[in-house]
Parts: sequence; C-alpha cells; structure tokens
Amino acid sequence: MKHTKIATILSLVIGAMAVFIGVRVAFLGQKMPYYVIGWLPVYNLVLGLMAVFLSTILIWKNSRFALPISIATLISHSAVTLFLLISYSGIVSIFSLIAMAIRIVTWVIIIKLLNVQKESQEQKMKEEYISSAKIYDPMLYLAINPIRLAVMDELSQHKDSVILDLCCGTGNQLKLLSKNGFKHLHCLDLSEAMLNVARKGGHPIEIYTEDATKTSFDDASFDIVMLSFAIHEKNRETQEKLVKEAHRLIKEKGVVLIVDYTFDEKTTKLGKMGIDLIERIAGGEHYRNFKGYIANDGLNSLIKTDKFKLIRDSRRTFNGVSISTYQKR
Ligand SMILES: C[S@@+](CC[C@H](N)C(=O)[O-])C[C@H]1O[C@@H](n2cnc3c(N)ncnc32)[C@H](O)[C@@H]1O
Repeated sequence: MKHTKIATILSLVIGAMAVFIGVRVAFLGQKMPYYVIGWLPVYNLVLGLMAVFLSTILIWKNSRFALPISIATLISHSAVTLFLLISYSGIVSIFSLIAMAIRIVTWVIIIKLLNVQKESQEQKMKEEYISSAKIYDPMLYLAINPIRLAVMDELSQHKDSVILDLCCGTGNQLKLLSKNGFKHLHCLDLSEAMLNVARKGGHPIEIYTEDATKTSFDDASFDIVMLSFAIHEKNRETQEKLVKEAHRLIKEKGVVLIVDYTFDEKTTKLGKMGIDLIERIAGGEHYRNFKGYIANDGLNSLIKTDKFKLIRDSRRTFNGVSISTYQKR
C-alpha cells in the first residue's frame, strides 16, 4: 500500500506542475526566461491533466489500468523528448529538456513502484496460508465437510469427467472425490504450503503450483472447473480473472462449479454473523475483499450471463454458502 501511496503522490505532483505551468504559458501568455517551442506547453498541459484526473485516480484505486497508462505516459514523454532532440536540435532550450527528463524519471519511478506493489501482492498471496495450511482442514472440518459432501453429490454424474480444482488449497475436496471413484482429478494452487498438505496421502491427483489467473493449460482442457471458497477473498480484478480463466479452460458445454458465500434475504442472521466472524479472523486484505465481494452482490455481479448459464444453485450453512453450477455458453 505504501508504494501505491507514493506513486499516487508522484503522479499528482508531476501532473499538477505540468498543468500549472502549461496554463500559465499556453493560456495566460506568461513569458519564460528561455525560448519555448509553441506546442510544447499545450502537450504538457494535456498530459498533465491526464496525470491529475486519470492516472492519479487509477493508481490510487490500484486499478489494473494504472500500470498500462503509466507506461503509455512514459513512452509519450520519451518519444517527445527524442523528437525535440532530433528535430529541434539547437533550438530547444536546455530547461525544456531538463523538465522532460524530470517527467521521464518520475514516471520510471512510478512504474517501478507499481511493479514492486504487484510483486509484493503476489508474494503475500503465496505466503497467506503458510501458517494455517496444516490446521486448515481440521479447523474448518465441521463447517466445510457438509459442503464437501454436497459438492460430491452435485458431481455424482461426472465420475469420468476431467475435473480441475482452481485454487484447490489442501486438495480436501478432490481427496474426497478420489476416495469415491472420481478418476481424472487436477489440483492447482499458488501456495506450496497448501499443496504440501494436498500431496499427503498419495491420492491419484495431479497437482500443479501455478497462478490460477493465468494457468499453462490449453483452452478447453477440462470438463469441469471448480472454484471453492476461492473468489470472495480476492480483489475484484483477480476475481474477474479467475472467472475468465475458468471459462477459457472448460470445454464447450462444460461445467463451472462455484462454492462461495451469498448474502441475501434467504441467508439467516446467524449465518451472516458466523461467516463474517470467520472472515474477520482471516483479517487484513482477505476480510476487506470479502466485504467488497458481499457489497458487490457476490457472484451475481461477477458471472456474465452471456458466458455462463446457471444450471443449479443450492444453499448450505444457514443459506450463506451457495453451490452454483453453471454451463459454459
Ligand atoms: C480459502 S482457500 C480455499 C481452498 C480450497 N479451494 C477449499 O475449498 O478449501 C483459497 C486458496 O486460494 C489460493 N490462491 C490464492 N490466490 C491464488 C492464485 N492466484 N492462484 C492459485 N491459487 C491461489 C490460496 O493459496 C488458497 O489455497
């Protein structure tokens, strides 16, 4: 978060300075103590306005467009500087070139900060379950086991299907399926700690350490893709990427099975309180993402009806957990 804040401030300051000087020179006719090429203040004003009203907001909101727009700004400033050096050699003032160089350096720093922020987010994701991997299954057994059984019930007609559990964690669901005659099981997660638990017991399950938002599998590799308690804890961008990846990975008319929280008029007060408590204990970003997921109406706002057709939706845990089966359109 610290990196995002510094990047936001830098973008705002560099943008505001360009707007301030651009307005004074281009519109108020202020004379500079050096020669100014006619179009340069206008260019700086436009890019400054973009930095203040677009880039700064995107960076502040940690949007997926923050990095692309920062890179575009850097490319634009670099190209203009090169153009000035080549086409206006001997005419362009050294002060104009220094100002452009300051802008370029600032945007390089902003891009570096955004990359560091992204890497630390990925690292945090990998590390989140290190301390809880070993106790994850026993700790949640009473709450989760009925759901695991219900999921198996849901899939009972698909024992020969090729199934991928995206963000499979400890592989608890797949182990249950394996024990009950399901044959082609694949388990993918980013956390080695969780996957080490999944490897225990020698079940015939293929296990992969990969990022579920960009897996290495070909399009349409699986009959069924599961996402179990894997969406609510991620930020919106990752949630969208997960659903998109699931859609890419399933075959034509294949099935996506999603288990996650649903808070609506059917959910009991006790269910909402219990789930909120569990998520509160998980804490930090996990809890913030959960709150955002609920505020955004969960899967309803995430699953696009032109991509998926809802086949079945059953409820568990005081109607606070839904097991939703969708078919790829
Ligand atoms: C709440 S656990 C759910 C595990 C399991 N699906 C279950 O039902 O118990 C979420 C899992 O998502 C994994 N995860 C988070 N981000 C991921 C990513 N980008 N790619 C793959 N796995 C990820 C975590 O390591 C964790 O194991």
